[in-house]
Amino acid sequence: MSSAPLWTFDDLVRAANGRPESATGTPITGLSIDTRTLEPGDLFVALKDQRDGHDFVGKAFAAGASAALVSEGYRAQPGDGPLIRVPDTLHALEAIGRAARARLRPEARVIAVTGSAGKTGTKDMLRAALSRVGPTHAADKSFNNHWGVPLTLARMPAATRFGIFEIGMNHAGEITPLVGMVRPHIAIVTTVEPVHLAQFPSVEAIAEAKAEIFTGLEPGGTAIINRDNTHFELLRKHAEAQGARIVSFGQDARADVRPKVLELSSEGTAIEVDIGGRPLRFRVAVPGIHIARNALAVAAALDAAGADVEEALPALATLAPPPGRGTRTELVLDGGKILLIDESYNANPASMRAALAVLGTVPRAAFGRRIAVLGDMLELGVQEKTHHTALKEAVDAAGTDLVFACGPNMAHLFAVLAPEKQGAWTPASDALSERLFAALAPGDVIMIKGSNGSRMGPLAEALRKKLSSA
Ligand SMILES: Nc1ncnc2c1ncn2[C@@H]1O[C@H](COP(=O)(O)OP(=O)(O)OP(=O)(O)O)[C@@H](O)[C@H]1O
Ligand SMILES: [Mg+2]
Repeated sequence: MSSAPLWTFDDLVRAANGRPESATGTPITGLSIDTRTLEPGDLFVALKDQRDGHDFVGKAFAAGASAALVSEGYRAQPGDGPLIRVPDTLHALEAIGRAARARLRPEARVIAVTGSAGKTGTKDMLRAALSRVGPTHAADKSFNNHWGVPLTLARMPAATRFGIFEIGMNHAGEITPLVGMVRPHIAIVTTVEPVHLAQFPSVEAIAEAKAEIFTGLEPGGTAIINRDNTHFELLRKHAEAQGARIVSFGQDARADVRPKVLELSSEGTAIEVDIGGRPLRFRVAVPGIHIARNALAVAAALDAAGADVEEALPALATLAPPPGRGTRTELVLDGGKILLIDESYNANPASMRAALAVLGTVPRAAFGRRIAVLGDMLELGVQEKTHHTALKEAVDAAGTDLVFACGPNMAHLFAVLAPEKQGAWTPASDALSERLFAALAPGDVIMIKGSNGSRMGPLAEALRKKLSSA
């Protein structure tokens, strides 16, 4: 991208509607809310979240911050650099984000992604694909909440041609203000699934909340909706009410973007699809029908954004999944190989089924036993027991040989498994590792998954530490 600074000091002050304490400042090359990852030249924004960022202003300047955005009440310390004062630092960050969006050139295209699963993976696919055809901006991580979205906007260079934003929610009403800042030309809903059920009366209520994404669409914008999802009609109605053009994707015969060929394998998926009347063949390196479906949404979005789809789509053939969303590592045990599929980042019933299905595609010729290591799916409300026992079908369909499970919810699944499939159950993940390690044999393929709070990540990490990479 161009060598212009992200923000000149004056432009930033104006965008933040702030009161600078020094007349001039050096150009701002980035924005940071965390001094542990701050880069020299960044503007440090002192947000109040779990901790108060104002306690770290000194650290920020020591690390090379170009300026700091602080609230009126902050008491300047010796060694502080240029300060920009505002009544509320989060509101100011939002204002900077809106200014970043407003200054994009008219031909720029902005894409927003929401859904119960697959937001980050879809955002990463779009970023990889669009980077091949123009200056592209997206967050490195999930960054999908009340500070992540404005921060990602504020970090967007003026010369951006394609901006991609993940928008998340835990409650109704959360998406509306975020998408109002992003003002996308294209809004994608990957899927609607029973997650966060503790906060919602029904899955329909979740679909309604996801549909808020269409409220922020630019006039003439495009809504890209999953035709295979139960809540398609509900989402379509909401999108139409906003005047959006609807593009549906999926395997349903009525889908606009529907694969003519879809070959799933443990090594990824080969897809053939008609886009704008042209047949396109491409590969997706991350295996699983759920990822393939996200890739159809990506293809639809590339077309809607006016990108050269033939140039952009081949990026998906080499793109690895984000950490903990299917990351594969070959490990060595007693001179033989073990394949670890690390899905520990998070879990809900839909992504759990998807991950088990992928486990079932690993060829027996390459690896022998299929082992699922499962932690609790959280936030499922009153139906949590049913959602766990119902996984038995997916466990069996995948040809899973052994299940190691932990947590009170997974105890329900463990109890209904055939006895020969019961590896071990422990109350928490830390106790499970010894039981798992003791059972491992060369040729095993191990898929580890659970909600973030079930701490399956450390278990995957322990396995990688214990066994060396092949
Ligand atoms: N369409 C889908 N349906 C079901 N599961 C999916 C789908 N897409 C991705 N997944 C799985 O969901 C998990 C989370 O993926 P990802 O991080 O992309 O989702 P996210 O929506 O960004 O999650 P978060 O809300 O935590 O930010 C991964 O295990 C991934 O393989
Ligand atoms: Mg995410």
